[in-house]
Amino acid sequence: MKPGPVSVARWSQLSEFIAEKMALHFPRERWEDLQRGLASAAQEFGHADAAECIDWLLAAPSTQAQLQVLASHLTIGESYFLRDRPTLEALTGHIVPELIRARRGREQRLRIWSAACCTGEEPYSLAILLHEALPELHDWQVTITATDINPRFLHKAAAGIYGEWSFRDAPPWLKQRYFTPTADGRYAIAPRIKKLVNFAYLNLAQDVYPSLATDTNAMDVIFCRNVLMYFTPAQIRTVIGHLHPLLSG
Ligand SMILES: C[S@@+](CC[C@H](N)C(=O)[O-])C[C@H]1O[C@@H](n2cnc3c(N)ncnc32)[C@H](O)[C@@H]1O
Repeated sequence: MKPGPVSVARWSQLSEFIAEKMALHFPRERWEDLQRGLASAAQEFGHADAAECIDWLLAAPSTQAQLQVLASHLTIGESYFLRDRPTLEALTGHIVPELIRARRGREQRLRIWSAACCTGEEPYSLAILLHEALPELHDWQVTITATDINPRFLHKAAAGIYGEWSFRDAPPWLKQRYFTPTADGRYAIAPRIKKLVNFAYLNLAQDVYPSLATDTNAMDVIFCRNVLMYFTPAQIRTVIGHLHPLLSG
């Protein structure tokens, strides 16, 4: 598509619109990424060029459908199994055992939220590590809620089928115990792990949380990793301010 004539002021307005609606930070030095993403979103929306698409986006209150398409073209989908392993091991080695000790024989429940779960590697890693480390969790009500703004990522997450690249930092046992090879050379997550994770759409910048609809109330642990670095400083403060009170303490 030939780029339409879009003024600097108009790109600034779009960047502010995206910061407000999706929290994503596109300062001047990232405008190339913004322009590339917007050009492909404009094609999907059916607009002739970027200028027409921006006019249309800024003319009326945005819809969730618009934000979902924009998210599909502007978010970064980088994730892999057992990413930042020390953090995950702190969960299974310290935090969860502590919670279990405190709650055993009383309210036997555990609630974890992966709040920007991308294509699912993070919440499935949590489910696998809990399954490995704490067999007694069979008797517990374990909820792993996984949300993201990009519906394409969520679709892939729910399918639970991954290529080699997602296992780039994972030990061989992960694949051997918890995945089945598919005919096209990829790997499908074991159903016993898949059923532990519930995926839902949630925009951290706009949607209401806690909410019963997305099961984001009263959390024991929230993973919100490798996402706030893409947000504006103001949105980072707002999101943290919303997440912190959800931790049941
Ligand atoms: C780089 S991935 C990180 C995935 C995972 N947390 C990890 O550490 O491997 C960033 C994710 O944040 C999501 N994201 C970006 N803006 C968001 C928003 N406003 N609300 C919810 N998710 C968002 C993206 O769609 C993407 O899946």
